[in-house]
Amino acid sequence: MTAAAAVLRERLAGRSPRTALVLGSGLGGLAGEVEDAVHVPYSELPGFPRSGVTGHAGEVVAGNFSSRPVLMLAGRAHYYETGDAAAMRPVLEALAGVGIDRLILTNAAGSLIRDMAPGSVMLITDHINFSGSNPLFGEPTDRRFVPLSEAYDAALRGALEDAAAATGTPLSKGVYMWFSGPSFETPAEIRMARTLGADAVGMSTVPEVILARFLNLRVAACSVITNLATGMGGEISHQETKDMAPVGGARLATILRHAFGTGLLDG
Ligand code: HPA
Repeated sequence: MTAAAAVLRERLAGRSPRTALVLGSGLGGLAGEVEDAVHVPYSELPGFPRSGVTGHAGEVVAGNFSSRPVLMLAGRAHYYETGDAAAMRPVLEALAGVGIDRLILTNAAGSLIRDMAPGSVMLITDHINFSGSNPLFGEPTDRRFVPLSEAYDAALRGALEDAAAATGTPLSKGVYMWFSGPSFETPAEIRMARTLGADAVGMSTVPEVILARFLNLRVAACSVITNLATGMGGEISHQETKDMAPVGGARLATILRHAFGTGLLDG
């Protein structure tokens, strides 16, 4: 067990969540819905990232969400912050160390599909790693050859689709392409991404999916669409992505509350 896992286990004080939820843009408010919550600042957890894109320090929030045990991660490290694609490795190792075996990731993304407008939610079915990097660079064991043929768990995806249907929440599906950022894409890059089969583009999640599969966690991921991708109309800005994130975020929160509350994610 890692040092961070040991600290986290103690701070969980008997709570034993098996599902972790990474709160991306627009989902931060969900941490406030956790009942019987324990808050553990990343600064208390050895190896956890120190800063995040939003500027405030991250924390683990564990307790009950929709009456089911959960561990939420408020704050993630992005590859573009330091050039370290493995920045989230200590976090995911600690989660695995305290018994988490399911990871639900959320993010903000730009859409390549005109009908998947800002405010939409996209369930990620597969990804394209276009960053040229990998969080397992330097991993010395043969475990580095992680199969990614079914990286996005079919049962977890089904659970999220069922929750969307039950709550009448529109949920698109598609392929997420990871760009390193932090600059946004050019119009030519977006034309390329479309040709290569991407439906949405973003700057996170893929390294975490690779690490999670390396650690044998089952994974699902959803994108909150904040903008149409570069060249599809309108200038893209970080401010726009921040302003639009709560719209899709509210929809995704509805899906997640239902999926947790009805035990769909327990299976
Ligand atoms: N590109 C990359 N990352 C993003 C975008 C985008 O258009 N929107 C939100 N995150």
